[in-house]
Amino acid sequence: MKITVLTLFPDMITPVIGQSIIGRARYENKIQIDVIDYRAYSLNKHQKVDDAPYGGGAGMVLQVEPVVRALRAIEGHEKALKILMTPQGEPYSQPRAQALSKADHLIILCGHYEGFDERIRAYFDTEISIGDYVLTGGEVAALVLIDSTIRLIPGVLNKDASHEEDSFSDGLLEYPHYTRPPTFEGQSVPEVLLSGHHQAIASYRRAESIKRTRKRRPDLYESYVKRQKKP
Ligand code: ADE
Repeated sequence: MKITVLTLFPDMITPVIGQSIIGRARYENKIQIDVIDYRAYSLNKHQKVDDAPYGGGAGMVLQVEPVVRALRAIEGHEKALKILMTPQGEPYSQPRAQALSKADHLIILCGHYEGFDERIRAYFDTEISIGDYVLTGGEVAALVLIDSTIRLIPGVLNKDASHEEDSFSDGLLEYPHYTRPPTFEGQSVPEVLLSGHHQAIASYRRAESIKRTRKRRPDLYESYVKRQKKP
């Protein structure tokens, strides 16, 4: 998979994608991430990419021209899935990450300033929000999308680190995990996990997963119950 990030702040992206699992996946050529500063595509002599809003009002608006020029300079942009990061987008979720992890090429635009020229929307296929809050720009949101998508690409995680058991992958939260020591300050690891009885462990984990989802995320639990009732 290839990801091209369009940003005015490459330094918010570059150090993060050099680290940990994403860094390793890039090093091993399992993914390619290009970070492009679209300020370089401004035609303004001061390389400005924003201007005051027509009709007045506070703040500055990202201009359409540098964004479209930057987009068109990306090789394969016609076929890529072009994503706009915005709090007005579709709420991001694990199923969306799963769908994106199958794409060949993603182009992600990180907005900045008070907003962006509405005409930019026409050049993008989809708009994604990572939650109902407003960030200073789309960079952190783009990193969330990149991180959650890349770990689902086959071969990126260790082969025994299964994401089939991730929280949300089957619509439930994940079961609790424990490791040594067996007892710490009065808290003990549940007996069943020490039993070596694989079937009992699997049932315990499933039950805990359901219990936890019911308690913490009644919305997810309700959908789970509905799915179970389907013939
Ligand atoms: N840019 C600013 N806030 C955002 C959000 N919540 N999701 C995606 N992009 C954003």
